[in-house]
Amino acid sequence: MKTMKPMVFVSRNIPDKGLDLMKGKVSLEVWPGEDNPGRDVFLEKAASCDGLVVIPGDPIDSEVLAAGKFLKIVSCYAVGYDSIDVNAATELGIMVTNTPDVLTETTADLAFGLLLAAARRIGEGDRVIRSGGWKHWGPRFMLGQDVSGATLGLIGMGRIGQAVSRRAKSFGMNLLYYARHRNEIAEREYGARYMEMETLLTVSDFVSIHCPLTSSTEGLIGERQLRAMKPTSILVNTSRGRVVVEKELVRALQEGWISGAGLDVFEKEPLPPDHPFLYMENVILCPHLGSATVQTREKMSVMAAENLLAALDGHTPRFLVNPTVRRKD
Ligand code: GLV
Repeated sequence: MKTMKPMVFVSRNIPDKGLDLMKGKVSLEVWPGEDNPGRDVFLEKAASCDGLVVIPGDPIDSEVLAAGKFLKIVSCYAVGYDSIDVNAATELGIMVTNTPDVLTETTADLAFGLLLAAARRIGEGDRVIRSGGWKHWGPRFMLGQDVSGATLGLIGMGRIGQAVSRRAKSFGMNLLYYARHRNEIAEREYGARYMEMETLLTVSDFVSIHCPLTSSTEGLIGERQLRAMKPTSILVNTSRGRVVVEKELVRALQEGWISGAGLDVFEKEPLPPDHPFLYMENVILCPHLGSATVQTREKMSVMAAENLLAALDGHTPRFLVNPTVRRKD
Protein backbone atom coordinates (compact mmCIF):
# COMPACT_ATOMS: atom_id res chain seq x y z
CA MET A 1 0.00 0.00 0.00
CA LYS A 2 1.35 3.46 -0.92
CA THR A 3 1.63 5.84 1.99
CA MET A 4 1.36 9.58 1.44
CA LYS A 5 4.55 11.57 1.68
CA PRO A 6 4.71 14.20 4.42
CA MET A 7 3.86 17.69 3.21
CA VAL A 8 6.50 20.36 3.70
CA PHE A 9 6.36 24.10 3.05
CA VAL A 10 9.65 26.00 2.65
CA SER A 11 9.06 29.73 3.07
CA ARG A 12 11.90 30.91 0.75
CA ASN A 13 14.04 29.57 -2.04
CA ILE A 14 16.87 28.14 0.10
CA PRO A 15 19.98 26.74 -1.68
CA ASP A 16 19.52 23.63 -3.83
CA LYS A 17 21.61 21.34 -1.63
CA GLY A 18 19.00 21.47 1.12
CA LEU A 19 16.06 21.29 -1.27
CA ASP A 20 17.62 18.28 -3.06
CA LEU A 21 17.90 16.41 0.23
CA MET A 22 14.16 16.79 0.80
CA LYS A 23 13.02 16.14 -2.78
CA GLY A 24 11.57 12.67 -3.23
CA LYS A 25 11.24 12.15 0.53
CA VAL A 26 8.53 14.71 1.12
CA SER A 27 5.92 16.50 -0.93
CA LEU A 28 7.69 19.85 -1.21
CA GLU A 29 6.31 23.31 -1.79
CA VAL A 30 8.76 26.21 -1.96
CA TRP A 31 7.37 29.75 -1.72
CA PRO A 32 8.29 31.37 -5.03
CA GLY A 33 8.77 34.97 -3.86
CA GLU A 34 11.61 36.73 -2.04
CA ASP A 35 9.21 38.50 0.33
CA ASN A 36 7.66 37.21 3.51
CA PRO A 37 4.61 35.17 2.42
CA GLY A 38 2.58 36.78 5.23
CA ARG A 39 0.75 35.40 8.20
CA ASP A 40 -2.29 34.12 6.27
CA VAL A 41 -0.08 31.88 4.16
CA PHE A 42 1.65 30.54 7.27
CA LEU A 43 -1.74 29.86 8.88
CA GLU A 44 -2.83 27.94 5.79
CA LYS A 45 0.44 26.01 5.39
CA ALA A 46 0.64 25.15 9.09
CA ALA A 47 -2.86 23.70 8.82
CA SER A 48 -1.98 21.45 5.89
CA CYS A 49 1.68 20.52 6.42
CA ASP A 50 3.73 18.10 8.51
CA GLY A 51 6.78 20.33 8.43
CA LEU A 52 7.74 23.96 7.80
CA VAL A 53 11.12 25.43 6.94
CA VAL A 54 11.14 29.11 7.91
CA ILE A 55 13.55 32.03 8.09
CA PRO A 56 14.13 34.81 10.66
CA GLY A 57 11.12 37.14 10.86
CA ASP A 58 8.55 34.62 9.62
CA PRO A 59 5.62 35.03 12.04
CA ILE A 60 5.33 31.57 13.60
CA ASP A 61 3.20 32.63 16.55
CA SER A 62 0.95 30.55 18.81
CA GLU A 63 -2.05 30.86 16.50
CA VAL A 64 -0.11 29.71 13.45
CA LEU A 65 1.28 26.79 15.46
CA ALA A 66 -2.15 25.89 16.84
CA ALA A 67 -3.45 25.65 13.27
CA GLY A 68 -0.90 22.87 12.67
CA LYS A 69 -3.01 19.81 13.40
CA PHE A 70 -0.39 17.53 11.75
CA LEU A 71 2.58 19.82 12.16
CA LYS A 72 5.55 17.97 13.71
CA ILE A 73 8.43 20.32 13.05
CA VAL A 74 9.32 23.92 12.38
CA SER A 75 12.86 23.92 11.03
CA CYS A 76 14.39 27.37 11.27
CA TYR A 77 16.93 28.22 8.57
CA ALA A 78 18.93 30.43 11.00
CA VAL A 79 20.47 30.26 14.44
CA GLY A 80 18.08 32.88 15.90
CA TYR A 81 14.53 31.59 16.29
CA ASP A 82 12.97 34.58 18.08
CA SER A 83 10.08 34.86 15.61
CA ILE A 84 8.89 31.36 16.57
CA ASP A 85 6.83 30.95 19.75
CA VAL A 86 8.89 28.06 21.10
CA ASN A 87 6.83 27.71 24.30
CA ALA A 88 3.64 27.32 22.31
CA ALA A 89 5.36 24.83 19.99
CA THR A 90 6.52 22.78 22.96
CA GLU A 91 3.03 22.67 24.46
CA LEU A 92 1.57 21.68 21.13
CA GLY A 93 4.13 18.89 20.60
CA ILE A 94 5.88 20.61 17.70
CA MET A 95 9.66 20.37 17.43
CA VAL A 96 11.66 23.51 16.68
CA THR A 97 15.19 23.31 15.27
CA ASN A 98 17.84 25.81 14.16
CA THR A 99 21.20 25.94 12.33
CA PRO A 100 23.96 26.85 14.79
CA ASP A 101 27.74 26.33 14.34
CA VAL A 102 27.86 26.45 10.53
CA LEU A 103 27.33 30.21 10.50
CA THR A 104 29.52 31.16 13.47
CA GLU A 105 32.71 32.16 11.64
CA THR A 106 30.82 33.83 8.79
CA THR A 107 28.79 35.99 11.18
CA ALA A 108 31.88 36.85 13.22
CA ASP A 109 33.60 37.98 10.00
CA LEU A 110 30.76 40.39 9.31
CA ALA A 111 30.72 41.70 12.89
CA PHE A 112 34.44 42.36 12.72
CA GLY A 113 34.08 43.84 9.25
CA LEU A 114 31.47 46.30 10.54
CA LEU A 115 33.70 47.14 13.49
CA LEU A 116 36.62 47.93 11.16
CA ALA A 117 34.42 49.76 8.68
CA ALA A 118 32.87 51.95 11.37
CA ALA A 119 36.23 52.60 13.07
CA ARG A 120 37.98 53.56 9.83
CA ARG A 121 34.96 55.22 8.18
CA ILE A 122 35.12 52.95 5.15
CA GLY A 123 31.49 53.41 4.00
CA GLU A 124 31.78 57.16 4.40
CA GLY A 125 35.10 57.22 2.51
CA ASP A 126 33.52 55.34 -0.39
CA ARG A 127 30.69 57.89 -0.50
CA VAL A 128 33.10 60.84 -0.33
CA ILE A 129 34.95 59.62 -3.42
CA ARG A 130 31.80 58.80 -5.38
CA SER A 131 30.30 62.20 -4.65
CA GLY A 132 33.45 64.04 -5.76
CA GLY A 133 34.26 65.18 -2.21
CA TRP A 134 37.88 63.92 -2.14
CA LYS A 135 40.02 67.01 -2.65
CA HIS A 136 43.29 66.24 -0.88
CA TRP A 137 45.30 64.02 1.48
CA GLY A 138 44.75 65.96 4.68
CA PRO A 139 46.45 65.61 8.05
CA ARG A 140 43.02 65.89 9.67
CA PHE A 141 40.93 64.44 6.87
CA MET A 142 38.47 61.67 7.84
CA LEU A 143 40.25 60.51 10.98
CA GLY A 144 38.87 57.35 12.53
CA GLN A 145 39.62 55.31 15.64
CA ASP A 146 42.41 52.74 16.17
CA VAL A 147 41.29 49.13 16.39
CA SER A 148 44.64 47.57 17.36
CA GLY A 149 45.19 47.82 21.06
CA ALA A 150 41.67 49.15 21.73
CA THR A 151 39.23 47.63 24.21
CA LEU A 152 36.37 45.53 22.87
CA GLY A 153 33.40 44.79 25.12
CA LEU A 154 31.27 41.85 24.04
CA ILE A 155 27.70 41.45 25.17
CA GLY A 156 27.09 37.72 24.99
CA MET A 157 29.86 35.12 24.84
CA GLY A 158 28.34 32.21 22.95
CA ARG A 159 29.74 30.71 19.77
CA ILE A 160 29.73 33.94 17.77
CA GLY A 161 31.05 36.03 20.67
CA GLN A 162 33.98 33.61 20.97
CA ALA A 163 34.64 33.72 17.23
CA VAL A 164 34.73 37.53 17.39
CA SER A 165 37.11 37.23 20.37
CA ARG A 166 39.54 35.17 18.28
CA ARG A 167 39.58 37.88 15.62
CA ALA A 168 39.95 40.64 18.21
CA LYS A 169 42.82 38.84 19.89
CA SER A 170 44.79 38.73 16.66
CA PHE A 171 44.27 42.52 16.40
CA GLY A 172 45.82 42.93 19.85
CA MET A 173 42.57 44.14 21.41
CA ASN A 174 41.79 43.96 25.13
CA LEU A 175 38.70 41.85 25.64
CA LEU A 176 35.90 42.33 28.13
CA TYR A 177 32.60 40.53 28.17
CA TYR A 178 29.25 40.47 29.86
CA ALA A 179 27.03 37.39 29.60
CA ARG A 180 24.44 35.49 31.59
CA HIS A 181 27.12 32.94 32.54
CA ARG A 182 30.86 33.16 32.93
CA ASN A 183 32.70 31.49 30.05
CA GLU A 184 35.91 29.79 31.16
CA ILE A 185 37.11 29.09 27.63
CA ALA A 186 36.85 32.75 26.66
CA GLU A 187 38.65 33.77 29.85
CA ARG A 188 41.42 31.19 29.48
CA GLU A 189 41.96 31.17 25.73
CA TYR A 190 41.29 34.77 24.75
CA GLY A 191 42.04 36.52 28.02
CA ALA A 192 38.49 37.96 28.09
CA ARG A 193 37.59 39.58 31.41
CA TYR A 194 34.06 39.27 32.76
CA MET A 195 32.43 42.52 33.80
CA GLU A 196 29.00 43.81 34.72
CA MET A 197 27.43 45.39 31.67
CA GLU A 198 27.31 48.95 33.00
CA THR A 199 31.06 48.90 33.76
CA LEU A 200 31.89 47.27 30.46
CA LEU A 201 30.03 50.02 28.62
CA THR A 202 31.95 52.81 30.36
CA VAL A 203 35.41 51.44 29.55
CA SER A 204 35.04 49.89 26.08
CA ASP A 205 36.12 51.56 22.84
CA PHE A 206 33.94 49.15 20.87
CA VAL A 207 30.87 47.26 22.04
CA SER A 208 29.64 44.33 19.98
CA ILE A 209 26.36 42.54 20.68
CA HIS A 210 26.19 38.74 20.45
CA CYS A 211 23.23 37.66 22.56
CA PRO A 212 19.96 36.19 21.29
CA LEU A 213 16.76 38.23 21.35
CA THR A 214 14.69 37.05 24.32
CA SER A 215 12.28 38.71 26.72
CA SER A 216 15.27 39.56 28.94
CA THR A 217 17.50 41.00 26.19
CA GLU A 218 14.83 43.03 24.37
CA GLY A 219 15.74 46.72 24.82
CA LEU A 220 18.91 45.79 26.75
CA ILE A 221 20.75 48.77 25.25
CA GLY A 222 18.72 51.94 25.72
CA GLU A 223 19.36 55.55 26.67
CA ARG A 224 21.05 54.86 30.02
CA GLN A 225 23.43 52.30 28.52
CA LEU A 226 24.26 54.43 25.48
CA ARG A 227 24.92 57.46 27.64
CA ALA A 228 27.29 55.33 29.75
CA MET A 229 29.47 54.58 26.70
CA LYS A 230 32.50 56.70 25.78
CA PRO A 231 31.78 59.54 23.33
CA THR A 232 34.47 58.08 21.05
CA SER A 233 33.04 54.56 21.16
CA ILE A 234 31.40 52.48 18.45
CA LEU A 235 28.48 50.05 18.78
CA VAL A 236 28.26 46.98 16.53
CA ASN A 237 25.10 44.90 16.31
CA THR A 238 24.83 41.67 14.32
CA SER A 239 22.39 39.92 16.69
CA ARG A 240 18.85 41.30 16.51
CA GLY A 241 17.71 44.90 16.14
CA ARG A 242 15.34 44.82 19.10
CA VAL A 243 18.18 44.20 21.59
CA VAL A 244 18.83 47.94 21.12
CA VAL A 245 16.20 50.66 21.55
CA GLU A 246 16.63 52.04 18.07
CA LYS A 247 15.23 55.52 18.62
CA GLU A 248 17.68 55.99 21.50
CA LEU A 249 20.54 54.81 19.29
CA VAL A 250 19.51 57.40 16.69
CA ARG A 251 19.73 60.10 19.38
CA ALA A 252 23.04 58.74 20.66
CA LEU A 253 24.54 59.00 17.17
CA GLN A 254 22.99 62.40 16.42
CA GLU A 255 23.88 63.97 19.75
CA GLY A 256 27.36 62.43 20.07
CA TRP A 257 26.82 60.18 23.11
CA ILE A 258 28.81 57.66 21.02
CA SER A 259 30.78 58.25 17.82
CA GLY A 260 29.51 55.57 15.46
CA ALA A 261 27.75 52.28 14.84
CA GLY A 262 27.96 49.28 12.53
CA LEU A 263 24.57 47.64 12.14
CA ASP A 264 23.43 44.50 10.35
CA VAL A 265 20.07 44.20 12.12
CA PHE A 266 17.19 46.58 12.81
CA GLU A 267 13.95 46.83 14.75
CA LYS A 268 12.07 46.67 11.48
CA GLU A 269 13.51 44.87 8.48
CA PRO A 270 13.82 45.89 5.72
CA LEU A 271 14.75 49.32 7.10
CA PRO A 272 11.90 51.76 6.30
CA PRO A 273 12.81 54.13 3.43
CA ASP A 274 12.72 57.30 5.58
CA HIS A 275 14.70 55.92 8.54
CA PRO A 276 17.06 58.47 10.17
CA PHE A 277 20.03 56.05 9.84
CA LEU A 278 19.87 56.61 6.09
CA TYR A 279 20.85 60.24 6.54
CA MET A 280 23.64 59.71 9.08
CA GLU A 281 27.30 59.48 8.10
CA ASN A 282 28.46 57.89 11.36
CA VAL A 283 26.57 54.63 10.92
CA ILE A 284 27.44 51.84 8.51
CA LEU A 285 24.51 49.68 7.47
CA CYS A 286 24.21 46.11 6.18
CA PRO A 287 20.94 44.43 5.14
CA HIS A 288 21.07 41.50 7.62
CA LEU A 289 23.96 39.69 5.93
CA GLY A 290 25.54 37.96 8.97
CA SER A 291 25.44 34.45 7.52
CA ALA A 292 25.19 35.47 3.87
CA THR A 293 27.98 33.62 2.07
CA VAL A 294 27.51 30.99 -0.63
CA GLN A 295 29.22 28.32 1.45
CA THR A 296 27.47 29.03 4.74
CA ARG A 297 24.00 29.36 3.27
CA GLU A 298 24.50 26.02 1.53
CA LYS A 299 25.51 24.38 4.83
CA MET A 300 22.52 25.97 6.56
CA SER A 301 20.17 24.57 3.92
CA VAL A 302 21.55 21.06 4.46
CA MET A 303 21.26 21.40 8.22
CA ALA A 304 17.69 22.73 8.04
CA ALA A 305 16.73 19.85 5.71
CA GLU A 306 18.42 17.23 7.92
CA ASN A 307 16.67 18.55 11.02
CA LEU A 308 13.33 18.43 9.25
CA LEU A 309 13.80 14.94 7.79
CA ALA A 310 14.97 13.51 11.12
CA ALA A 311 11.83 14.79 12.84
CA LEU A 312 9.53 13.50 10.11
CA ASP A 313 11.29 10.10 10.29
CA GLY A 314 10.50 9.89 14.00
CA HIS A 315 14.05 10.68 15.16
CA THR A 316 15.31 13.46 17.38
CA PRO A 317 16.83 16.16 15.17
CA ARG A 318 20.44 17.11 15.96
CA PHE A 319 19.68 20.76 16.63
CA LEU A 320 16.46 20.57 18.59
CA VAL A 321 15.71 23.83 20.40
CA ASN A 322 12.92 22.44 22.61
CA PRO A 323 14.12 19.04 23.89
CA THR A 324 11.26 18.79 26.39
CA VAL A 325 8.68 18.64 23.58
CA ARG A 326 6.37 15.65 23.70
CA ARG A 327 6.41 14.13 20.26
CA LYS A 328 3.23 14.04 18.16
CA ASP A 329 2.52 10.62 16.62
C1 GLV B 1 20.31 35.10 11.27
O1 GLV B 1 19.92 36.18 11.58
C2 GLV B 1 20.37 33.98 12.14
O2 GLV B 1 19.82 34.06 13.24
O3 GLV B 1 20.93 32.95 11.75
